[in-house]
Amino acid sequence: MAGGDTSGAASPVRSFLDLSDAGGDAIAAMIGDAQDRKAARAGWPKGRADADAPLAGHVLGMIFEKNSTRTRVSFDIAMRQLGGSALILDAATTQLGRGESIADTARVLSRMVDAIMIRTDDHAKAQALAEHASVPVINGLTDRSHPCQIVADLLTVIEHGKPLPGLELAWLGDGNNVLHSLIEAAALMKFNIRVGAPEGYDPEDEFLAMARAAGCRVTVTRDAAEAARGADVVVTDTWVSMGQDHADAKLAAMAPFQVDAALMALAKPDARFLHCLPAHVGEEVSQEVFEGAQSLVFDEAENRIHAQKSILLWCHGKLATG
Ligand code: CP
Ligand code: NVA
Repeated sequence: MAGGDTSGAASPVRSFLDLSDAGGDAIAAMIGDAQDRKAARAGWPKGRADADAPLAGHVLGMIFEKNSTRTRVSFDIAMRQLGGSALILDAATTQLGRGESIADTARVLSRMVDAIMIRTDDHAKAQALAEHASVPVINGLTDRSHPCQIVADLLTVIEHGKPLPGLELAWLGDGNNVLHSLIEAAALMKFNIRVGAPEGYDPEDEFLAMARAAGCRVTVTRDAAEAARGADVVVTDTWVSMGQDHADAKLAAMAPFQVDAALMALAKPDARFLHCLPAHVGEEVSQEVFEGAQSLVFDEAENRIHAQKSILLWCHGKLATG
C-alpha cells in the first residue's frame, strides 16, 4: 500500500517515459500497491476517493495528440480516486497545435498542474517535455512505447495466478510500441517472450538487445505456431497503429498471425489472452478468442485505472518502496 511522504521534504520529481525509468523493484511495488488499492475499494462508486486520498489537491494535465478512450478515462478516474483531478489538453485546440514549443508548454504547465501526461507520435517530444518540465511527465503512448499499458497488463497476469519470473509470453503480429514496452518489462521482471511476426515488422533491435542482456529468452519467429506453443499468455494488438497507413500489403503479411482458437490451442491449457484494445476482431484476433473464456481483455482495461494510480504515486514519490 502507498506510504506517503512523511519526511516533510519536497517529494522527488520522477518522470515515467519508459518502464526502465522506474526499474523492476518499483514496478513490482506499483503492482502490489495497485492490488491493495483495488481490493480496498471493491464495490465503491468509481469516482469516490480512496480513504487516504494521497494526491488530494493535485491536478494532472493530459495532452492528447492522438485519440484515446482507456488512457484518457483511466487517468481521469485514477486522479479522482487518489483525491485529485485531471484536465484534458487537446493538442488541436491548445497553442501546442499552433506551434508553441514543447519547452515553453512544459514550463507553463509546470506552473499550473502537478504532473503532465502526454500521448504523442514522436517519443522525442515526450522526452523534451520531461526535460523542460519541473513536474513529473508520464508517457501515455508514443510511437516507440506504451509503458502504462504494460503495468496494467502485468497486474492482470499476476491477478490471474501467473507469477512473472519465468513466464512464457507469446506476442503475435506487429512489432509495435506495445511490444517494445512488453519486451522492456521482460528484461526488468525476468520473463521470456516469443514474438511471431512477419518479416519487416520486427520490434526494434534495441529492445531485443535489452532483454537478452538481462538474461531473458526473447526470440523472433516467422512461424505463428512456434511462437504460441506452450505459452502462458498470448498477446496481440492492432495491425495498424495510430498514425500508420492502412496498407493492404501489411494486412496480408499479418494474416497468418491472427490469434484464433487453433493458435490458442497450442498454448498451455490455462493460457490467457491479452489485448490492450481497441481491437479489430476478425483481423488480429478471432471473435471466438476475443469473447472466449481465456480472454482477459476487459479485466486488463479496468486495470488501467489501478495501474495509473500506482504510476502516479511513484512519480510523486508516494509509493512505499519505489
Ligand atoms: N489501450 C489504450 O491505450 O487504449 P486507448 O487508446 O483507448 O487509450
Ligand atoms: N499500437 C496501438 C496501441 C493503441 C493503444 C497504437 O499505437 O495505435
